[in-house]
Amino acid sequence: MTEQRTAIQRLDYTPPAFLIDRVDLTFELEETHTRVLSRLVLKRNPAHPTADAPLVLNGEELSLESIKVDGRQLTPGEYELGDVTLTIPNLPAEAILEIANTINPLSNTTLSGLYVSSGNFFTQCEAEGFRRITYYLDRPDVMAKFTTTIVADKTRYPVLLGNGNRVGQGNLDKNRHWVKWVDPFKKPSYLFALVAGKLVVLADRHTTASGKTVNVEVWVEPGEQDKCHHALASAKAAMKWDEERFGLEYDLDTYMIVAVSDFNMGAMENKGLNIFNTKYVLAKPETATDVDFDGIEAVVGHEYFHNWTGNRVTCRDWFQLSLKEGLTVFRDQEFSSDIGSRAVQRISNVRVLRERQFPEDAGPQAHPIRPDSYLEINNFYTATVYEKGSEVVRMYQTLLGREGFRKGMDLYFKRHDGQAVTCDDFANAMQDANQFDLTQFKRWYSQAGTPQLTVEGVFDQAAQTFALTVRQSAPATPGQPEKLPYHIPFAVGLLDQNGSELKLTLQGEDAAEAATSRVLHVREAEQTFVFTGISSKPVPSLLRDFSAPVKLDYPYTDDELVFLIAHDTDPFARWEAGNTYLVRLLLQLYRAGDTPKAPEQLVAAFARLLTQDRLDPALVALMLELPSENYLFEAINDVDPARLHAVHHGLTQSLARELRSQLFAAYQKQHTGVPYRYSAEEAGRRSLQNVCLSYLAELDEPMMAELLSNQYRRADNMTDRLAALKALIQRDGAETWLDDFATMWQDDALVMDKWFALQALSDRPGTLSRVQKLMEHPAFAITNPNKVRSLIGAFCHSNLVAFHAADGYGYAFAADRVLQLDKLNPQIAARMAACFNRWTRLEPGRRALMKAELERIAREPGLSSDTFEIVSKALQAGQ
Ligand code: TRP
Ligand code: ZN
Repeated sequence: MTEQRTAIQRLDYTPPAFLIDRVDLTFELEETHTRVLSRLVLKRNPAHPTADAPLVLNGEELSLESIKVDGRQLTPGEYELGDVTLTIPNLPAEAILEIANTINPLSNTTLSGLYVSSGNFFTQCEAEGFRRITYYLDRPDVMAKFTTTIVADKTRYPVLLGNGNRVGQGNLDKNRHWVKWVDPFKKPSYLFALVAGKLVVLADRHTTASGKTVNVEVWVEPGEQDKCHHALASAKAAMKWDEERFGLEYDLDTYMIVAVSDFNMGAMENKGLNIFNTKYVLAKPETATDVDFDGIEAVVGHEYFHNWTGNRVTCRDWFQLSLKEGLTVFRDQEFSSDIGSRAVQRISNVRVLRERQFPEDAGPQAHPIRPDSYLEINNFYTATVYEKGSEVVRMYQTLLGREGFRKGMDLYFKRHDGQAVTCDDFANAMQDANQFDLTQFKRWYSQAGTPQLTVEGVFDQAAQTFALTVRQSAPATPGQPEKLPYHIPFAVGLLDQNGSELKLTLQGEDAAEAATSRVLHVREAEQTFVFTGISSKPVPSLLRDFSAPVKLDYPYTDDELVFLIAHDTDPFARWEAGNTYLVRLLLQLYRAGDTPKAPEQLVAAFARLLTQDRLDPALVALMLELPSENYLFEAINDVDPARLHAVHHGLTQSLARELRSQLFAAYQKQHTGVPYRYSAEEAGRRSLQNVCLSYLAELDEPMMAELLSNQYRRADNMTDRLAALKALIQRDGAETWLDDFATMWQDDALVMDKWFALQALSDRPGTLSRVQKLMEHPAFAITNPNKVRSLIGAFCHSNLVAFHAADGYGYAFAADRVLQLDKLNPQIAARMAACFNRWTRLEPGRRALMKAELERIAREPGLSSDTFEIVSKALQAGQ
């Protein structure tokens, strides 16, 4: 491929030529012809290098009507209208610019800018959507005070919402009305929002620590209020938590959440007016699973927390995205840990990191959490920026302690409230508040790739010492062949033969203060830590609580891993011992290629987990789940996905046979039949119940079929019903169950998403043609991202068997969909195209087939920058 496009470089940052103090916007809403009037109060920016630079505004897909400067209309010769810019030269030091333009929200399928969904109007402006509404300096370091006046038909759009506080409303002729909103806080354009339509509200109040009353509102389509209680409760819990943990209060009279069914991502933190994907708002026990409830709590928390980490303090430029996203993911993870189970939360977060971020860091799109260049910023809302970014923030807390971290946060807000800043500003606040040198730690922002820690332990009986030698290395990534050593917080413990924790005293330290768990500071390429007073060979418990986003290699024996499964007191490390054991076993089975049989040692360990009463069911469930196929995929060269799936499934079946009675007893114990309640404890119980069910479903016995159909029929909640359905459709008679479910839920879009995904994930023959047929189903729509993700995304990203069919039809289908979506919604197309990222890891036959499809996409004329960037980087990986 020869086409070259110019990337934006982080180091090219220059301050804007103009600043905007105030923006007054008026919207005359019409589906196909909305008129936008914008009045900007501008001044030259003294920080810009040239004194007479022209004003260059961004603008895309806009029809310009008129421009006035200080009340005088400009003639066409006085400005230059480009494809994506509007340039106005010769402006004075201060000016008032008035622009009128029109847009067509109805034809906007990109879901960026102003668009129509189910007859209502919504906006999405992050990252660069505001330029699709009006001409503007659409960059986050231009912060202005906004007012928004919305004018619309009163019958079709009774509710008109904007940022900030509502200050006025009134009626106009022709059945129209208007509402005016004032946002008292300066903000960048990406935080602008507007909503108009037929919506209803579920509302409550929150009283802040300082005694202020805040209205908390959740706006949804009529008839959906009964599904808003969890989102509303989560918002109130988030407000309380941020006051207690970080001393941060809400700063407007009203906090609004609005749900929309057509949305590119999870949710958006627009000032005072968060807009959410319905998936992260609507839930009741009959329609939503425990995982959905967890997701709502996390995303509501996330968007709410952005009010301080993102909005009050925002990003100077988009390379700093992790400044707000990594920090806010960390905050939402801590919120979920504090109100639910910290151990379950930590293990789940690490699983997501490993399954989504590690492959990204090892593949063609690898980038540091603060990238150095991009073609399309929308491609950088990644697992790296979000999830690894959160791990980097967590490491500050691990290094500085909770109190030290809080001091750093306080200083960050004290210094930067109302500003657009950089990742360095955050690191400096942490450093200065704690007098702690973070120079080396900052490499986490600039280097891509997952570091590898290779650890050895040597016990010296005579000296009574145990020496841990830690070597760190980091793989080459695109554009970064060499890496410097990181500063890694490495949390460890040592267990004696009885499973008791030993006191950890490093050579030269006072033994009196010794703790049983401590954080070692790894800074060198190779470093040895000698623990003294160790009288017998210990088993080390390493990388406790997953103290750093690294890969760990320690030459544990299988017996030592089984020992840690039984004794480690750190819940993450305990789970990790099982995970390490299972990964090792599955990789051995993959290489051997025979029908898998579960080793006795594993059967015995699982049996103990299933029968010991004192264990937390949620943690047992996590321990019983095999490492995912997508995770194992990364550990195998020239991988044959069909073989991998067969091994994974074979081990599952063997475990089911060997543990039949224990699984059955545990299932019956957990399947209590008490009415559904969402709580960490109850969700944990259900997860163990349903893990047992998934194993039992592997047994070809009439009794198990009955167990499944009973659970399906009697369930009072979606968690249990869906778990049963998932297993039922792997058996004969799948159609009956699928039809039953669809008949019951055809009018609930989010439930139908689950129905589509279940079918797209099936490993039974004929799945591709079923997916193709389902694209014609009345509940499917190619313009709706949730539908695309449920059906096409699930198939392409997660169906190891059908997507990777040896004939290449799965790949051809994926490429067709990428090309189809690219014309409608480039952001969604680019995310779909990422299913080709790992093509060089496949066995030669599939590798060639994937490459051919990548090349076919790349040849398409007029490809969006979104898809072009993903596909061209993927192809470069093969060179
Ligand atoms: N800032 C949003 C968040 O909370 C991300 C987001 C929502 C987004 N919608 C988007 C990013 C559309 C890009 C495009 O994480
Ligand atoms: Zn976010």
